[in-house]
Amino acid sequence: MSTPNPRRQLKPTDVKRLNRTWRRNTEGRLALILESVTGPFNIGSIFRTAAAFGVETIWLAGNATPPSNPKAQKTALGTDRLVEWHEPVPVAEAVRAAREDGFRVVAVELTGDAVPLHEAKLGGDVCLVLGSEDHGCSPACLEAADSVAYIPQVGRVGSVNVAVAAAISMAEARRQEWASAAG
Ligand SMILES: C[S@@+](CC[C@H](N)C(=O)[O-])C[C@H]1O[C@@H](n2cnc3c(N)ncnc32)[C@H](O)[C@@H]1O
Repeated sequence: MSTPNPRRQLKPTDVKRLNRTWRRNTEGRLALILESVTGPFNIGSIFRTAAAFGVETIWLAGNATPPSNPKAQKTALGTDRLVEWHEPVPVAEAVRAAREDGFRVVAVELTGDAVPLHEAKLGGDVCLVLGSEDHGCSPACLEAADSVAYIPQVGRVGSVNVAVAAAISMAEARRQEWASAAG
């Protein structure tokens, strides 16, 4: 009998088992505030990534598009059922709610006082705030956040897509916990 080739794509049951292992080794609570993120494909994509990284809650703020939007479903692919989310409220209210729920609030934005994402402390219970496609995080949002982190860019671009920024930030928050657990 031939040994199975380890370099093959995992089957869905193998992926479920792998995810379960990572879930057991992940304690930090992760949440998001999406301030006026309106593109339905961005919203769907952020929800899918949030579900993958075990985000507990997403607060929508400003005029953010809810994941129930039919176009958002094209990228969310039903994963929005796996993440608790709240209808849009003013951003200061969303920040207050996150803090009352025990989260430190870190805005992901390019500001004068922002620290590079890989140097930001994203451990523990952290709520990341992403801003709108057009105007970014509002002054009220930046005022309310506990700190700000930015994603360093090498190329001549002003910013990355908000769903990509959300994915990079969630991955970095988890990476920091997993790296510190590995000692
Ligand atoms: C497309 S950007 C907004 C850009 C907007 N045109 C501006 O200049 O303010 C949308 C959101 O993605 C996030 N984002 C994109 N690139 C980023 C970066 N390099 N560092 C931190 N956040 C970033 C921020 O949350 C931002 O509010």
